[in-house]
Amino acid sequence: MSREQYKLFSTGRIGKLNLPNRLIRSATWDPSILHHGKMTEEILAVYHKVAAGGVGLIFSGGLPVCNDETLASGSGYAGLRIKGIEKLVPTVHKAGTGCKIIAQLEPGNLNKGPSEIRSPYQKEKIPALITDEIQTVIRCFVEGIISIQADGFDGVQLHAAHGGLLSSFLSPYTNHRTDEFGGTIKKRAAVLQRIVEQARKIVGDFPILIKLNATDNLQGGIDIENFPALAKQMERVGFDAIEVSGGMWDCLIQSEEELGFPPVPAPESHTQINRPEKQSYYLQYVRELKLNIPVILVGGNRDVERLEAILQEEPVDFIALCRPLISEPDLPKRWLEGRGGTSTDCISCNACIYEMYMHPGQDAPGLVRCVYKEDRERYHEAKKWLKTWVDQVKVSTDG
Ligand SMILES: Cc1cc2nc3c(=O)[nH]c(=O)nc-3n(C[C@H](O)[C@H](O)[C@H](O)COP(=O)(O)O)c2cc1C
Repeated sequence: MSREQYKLFSTGRIGKLNLPNRLIRSATWDPSILHHGKMTEEILAVYHKVAAGGVGLIFSGGLPVCNDETLASGSGYAGLRIKGIEKLVPTVHKAGTGCKIIAQLEPGNLNKGPSEIRSPYQKEKIPALITDEIQTVIRCFVEGIISIQADGFDGVQLHAAHGGLLSSFLSPYTNHRTDEFGGTIKKRAAVLQRIVEQARKIVGDFPILIKLNATDNLQGGIDIENFPALAKQMERVGFDAIEVSGGMWDCLIQSEEELGFPPVPAPESHTQINRPEKQSYYLQYVRELKLNIPVILVGGNRDVERLEAILQEEPVDFIALCRPLISEPDLPKRWLEGRGGTSTDCISCNACIYEMYMHPGQDAPGLVRCVYKEDRERYHEAKKWLKTWVDQVKVSTDG
């Protein structure tokens, strides 16, 4: 069968949004615009390249809706909005490939959680949010969604994965509240429910998606047993699609044997995807899902033939990729046209994460790029950093 007939390259739909194919660029942080608070030509060029490369939909890098200061002052999303963020929309649409763009909203830097707990990773006690602060967080997300619609985006995705605030509310590992925001699955999802309910009154059927963990990789957290009910609750809350990811930063204090994958920054971006069975590492978690909304699978998706088989045989509607599109922005086109091998060039080394953390003002332009391909000296520097990072986590845990 020619690849043009693959399900991977067939049209798809999320809510009212028509998409040209089933390949999605998963959210990839943009440190330079976050650092400067404004859009740059370099970032626009990155998005244009990815859109022109044939992906059907792009999730923007996470955009914060609040932080410790805005929470303390009670001010809303407006102060954190990236100036010129709306320029992303025509940049992507003008690529001429039918690619759409959805903005990802994340809670931002908040040193508070649903419950007071000592994080073994951060090694400090995280204080619990009081009810008024939770209302402020909800308001910030609602304002964020309204603003993203006004900016012309094709939809919005709420980042409730990887241990951030929304993720911490969903997880029984971090959420020990006994009020209306903790306890049952419904109550743990109440913050999300209120955000969606309040936003829908203004934005109507604007697509609202969620990225969430299928596993926290932590005992007492979200896992393969309790995830299907949580996913069903996301459908009830009114999300238009779920993107299935995993991992919380706290999990990284465990050994490779305990985790089943090497502990590296970040918990959702596994390394050493060197055998076919290591690919698509969250697939096992979606097999029991029975949802009426699309399921997007992210994490270690690497081989076009394997991905086509997943779409044909499993309850998965879309495939999301992050690191492979940093390495090869035109990967969807390459796969469609049958150029090169069936697998991506990406070696999943996570050197791109080093580039992400070396913010502007430190020693990098803040552009996430594939240094393995583009700058071998920098790649070796990144490898050293990754190793030191792992050793430090181990040392401090032992201490
Ligand atoms: C450089 C980099 C930046 C990322 N930024 C975000 C982000 O802003 N929001 C998010 O939800 N996930 C983010 N992720 C996680 C990815 O979206 C994705 O879930 C993960 O890398 C696994 O997919 P992959 O194997 O295709 O890379 C980031 C990952 C990398 C490597």
